[in-house]
Amino acid sequence: MDERDSSTFGGTCRLSTTEAYHRQEIEGLGWELTVCNSLYPPGTPIRGVLAKDTSYGHLLYEHLGRFMPLDNMTSILEIGAGYGYLMKDFLESNPGLHPCLMDISPALLGKQRETLAGHDVSYVLQDALEAEAETLQNFELVILNENLGDFPTAVDVDGRALEERGGSGDVPARIYRFFDTYSIEIPQVLFNVNLGALEMVEKLCSSGVPRIFIGEHSCEATLPPALKHYIPLVSDGNPRRIRLKGHDEYTIKFSHLRRIAEYHGYRTVRGPFADYVIPDITEELKAILATRGLYSDSEEMIYHFVGDLYEYEYLVMMKEGDRGW
Ligand SMILES: C[S@@+](CC[C@H](N)C(=O)[O-])C[C@H]1O[C@@H](n2cnc3c(N)ncnc32)[C@H](O)[C@@H]1O
Repeated sequence: MDERDSSTFGGTCRLSTTEAYHRQEIEGLGWELTVCNSLYPPGTPIRGVLAKDTSYGHLLYEHLGRFMPLDNMTSILEIGAGYGYLMKDFLESNPGLHPCLMDISPALLGKQRETLAGHDVSYVLQDALEAEAETLQNFELVILNENLGDFPTAVDVDGRALEERGGSGDVPARIYRFFDTYSIEIPQVLFNVNLGALEMVEKLCSSGVPRIFIGEHSCEATLPPALKHYIPLVSDGNPRRIRLKGHDEYTIKFSHLRRIAEYHGYRTVRGPFADYVIPDITEELKAILATRGLYSDSEEMIYHFVGDLYEYEYLVMMKEGDRGW
């Protein structure tokens, strides 16, 4: 962990953040291949293993359209849009959209402006955790794709101390409030908490945003039985550190996010990315998975990509009573 980006709280836990990295250091996502960016180039071999050969934003648009009136929407907020590829696809599907992109990184907002040049898009340079409820509630849908793992994570939280002291100190108190408010049992071990992700989802839900989509690397992912022998999955329910250039991310405990959404009166739909980025599990693909993509660069790419489709989960949250179509 980068000491500039971490703080220690009475020896009981520390907060891992990526804020300084995203504000000052990041130049691009090249080495941090998101599912969205991997699928963007039309000729990429990974599109060849999908049931439908298209980019991520189109697949997501089609999936979300099953739950909400996307074709009639005009105002969408995307938080942490990276290169802006997802929104480019959404604009192709629905040219009537007037999206707003909010990002903590000036460099990535610059990339989004390039990708979406010529479209009616507004851009906000802001840490989404500091966004006002009045701003958020104006949107019909808020999207956070592959970024909640960047939000602050409390690492090595001592569950016993947390329960005994009720969370003394700023960060332990913030963690304790979540467990208490949402009636979540405190694990009696050292564990990690996606504190920023919890605070973000709570902020969105309590602002009354009618629909929210979240997609991210999960620490609770499961594999379909047919793939269990092919993909090694580390998913023990504790947010796992992923070391990346200049910062750490943590996998997300989706059950906590879902609990918050349901508490605030949202219906939820949860599943793996593979629900809408659907791999065609042929004998050839099974052979690539069985050999861990050993025989060529493109097979290695396919092997990791297919694993990601099950390690990444999504959560759709819809305010109860919102039928809107
Ligand atoms: C890994 S990239 C994902 C990009 C894109 N959504 C995708 O799927 O390819 C994370 C994005 O979230 C942004 N981000 C990270 N923390 C943020 C925060 N607290 N508020 C707003 N944006 C944030 C980053 O600058 C970056 O654009």
